[in-house]
Amino acid sequence: MKQLTRLSALLLACLVLLGTTLVACAAEQPSGFSDVSPDAWYADAVSWCRENGIMGGTSETAFSPNSPMTRAMLATVLHRAAGEPEAGRTTPFSDVSPDTWYTEAVAWAADQGLVTGYGNGRFGTDDPITREQLATILWRYAGSPEAAGGPDFKDAADLSGYARSAVSWAAVQGIVTGLNENRFAPRDNATRAQVATILTRYLSQDTQPAPVPEPQKPEAAGYPAFDLAAGTVPLNDGHTMPILGIGTYALSDQQAENSVYWALKAGFRLIDTARIYGNEPGVGRGIRRAIDEGIVKREEIFVTTKMWTSDFGNGDAAIDASLSRLGLDYIDLMILHHSQPSNDVQAYQAMERAVEAGKLRSIGLSNYYTPADFDRLVNATTIKPALLQNETHPYHQSGEMKGHIAQYGTVLESWFPLGGRGNTQTLFNDPTISGIAQAHGVSSAQVIIRWHLQAGNICIPGSSNEQHIIEDFDVWDFALTDQEMAQMTALERDARFANY
Ligand SMILES: NC(=O)c1ccc[n+]([C@@H]2O[C@H](COP(=O)([O-])OP(=O)(O)OC[C@H]3O[C@@H](n4cnc5c(N)ncnc54)[C@H](OP(=O)(O)O)[C@@H]3O)[C@@H](O)[C@H]2O)c1
Repeated sequence: MKQLTRLSALLLACLVLLGTTLVACAAEQPSGFSDVSPDAWYADAVSWCRENGIMGGTSETAFSPNSPMTRAMLATVLHRAAGEPEAGRTTPFSDVSPDTWYTEAVAWAADQGLVTGYGNGRFGTDDPITREQLATILWRYAGSPEAAGGPDFKDAADLSGYARSAVSWAAVQGIVTGLNENRFAPRDNATRAQVATILTRYLSQDTQPAPVPEPQKPEAAGYPAFDLAAGTVPLNDGHTMPILGIGTYALSDQQAENSVYWALKAGFRLIDTARIYGNEPGVGRGIRRAIDEGIVKREEIFVTTKMWTSDFGNGDAAIDASLSRLGLDYIDLMILHHSQPSNDVQAYQAMERAVEAGKLRSIGLSNYYTPADFDRLVNATTIKPALLQNETHPYHQSGEMKGHIAQYGTVLESWFPLGGRGNTQTLFNDPTISGIAQAHGVSSAQVIIRWHLQAGNICIPGSSNEQHIIEDFDVWDFALTDQEMAQMTALERDARFANY
């Protein structure tokens, strides 16, 4: 027993000695870490981060330069860089318990809209951060500044949509650089050495903007300005359009009649249907019911329908057929349902003729997802599209297309604004969205709808339920703050729910 005690004492003494030697060795390195040699490309950055209290080691002696940076670590580092301000609320994530070293930092970063969870209530504390995520978080931290030009990395095509502006900005600022052969490797995990270097470049720049991200603003030059008080937006052709409407996708003819009638009764003035939904007659009946009861006049409402792709070769007849099914003598807005390069120009020209003839007031497009595809049609036709209707919601915010169409004064309209049938719970239960809803005493659906309107997206939630319809129109008496808008903007993940 005595021998055992002596052995333990000896071992302990050795360990203490070894520890002291390691600390001493580490202290001799300028960075203070034994695994950061003075001539490493990241040595100065590690020293700077340590001196400024931004980033410490993984232990007293080690920095672990090649280890991945976790999401919790990054939140902590940014929180320190911001002076460790108090978080505005408790952590919204189920996997961040209230008493860890990163709890306050994660709550603060989420509150600022800098980080988001995975949409299932989890933050992914120990998950590594990728290079494009790192650039995006820093970009948000800098206030989401506009970036001139796209990133010119060889693998720029691999960048996720949400990260493109961020990486362009970070590259122009000299904050991120490419790896070998001018590759950015967006999905590679960022190592701690890379993070230290990028943070040093960023934080040691002379002029640092306040670390509060800007909310998504709809006022890119030329983008139509929403009148939230009137609930309308001026179109590029001189007409005015309501910004909140009822959608009728997947509703039967009978359901569409009821939903349209309930919607007009609840205050909606915009209706969205399509020939392919097979419910234009029901929509027409719903409108007539509301007019007959004195709820609305024809000229007070705005009816949209869409020309289906198989009709593109015979657009003039398709327009007449929609007019007849709806029972209207003019349609406020007709849009081509999908891009179809073989003959969409021909179909659009039929709509241009119908504008001349007074059958259509405004015309536009749906499901054009690249600037090149949009411009292909614009360059071959005369009337600039008044509107582009694309899948748009907090997880797919259509920033690129919205920025692109602004030059034509074209406005964006969101389909699947709540995620679409079968997906709505994903958005409704997102902790950011449900947290904002709780703060305002409204539903998640109302928060999402209000976000669309404040972000400059015309919103057309679909519903077959009168209570939901009433609720969906009840979004005028509250407003999301700039910070809440920024939090919503930060939910972008370039993820569509539909696959067409
Ligand atoms: N251009 C295109 O290719 C295209 C594609 C899809 C859709 N669209 C248009 O965009 C419109 C909107 O899209 P969408 O209808 O497919 O999807 P959506 O509006 O994102 O979601 C509709 C779903 O939300 C539910 N909902 C609505 N309000 C609610 C509330 N207050 N509380 C709880 N649930 C609520 C509806 O259920 P209930 O019926 O139970 O209320 C329905 O399940 C369509 O109706 C259509 O007009 C266009």
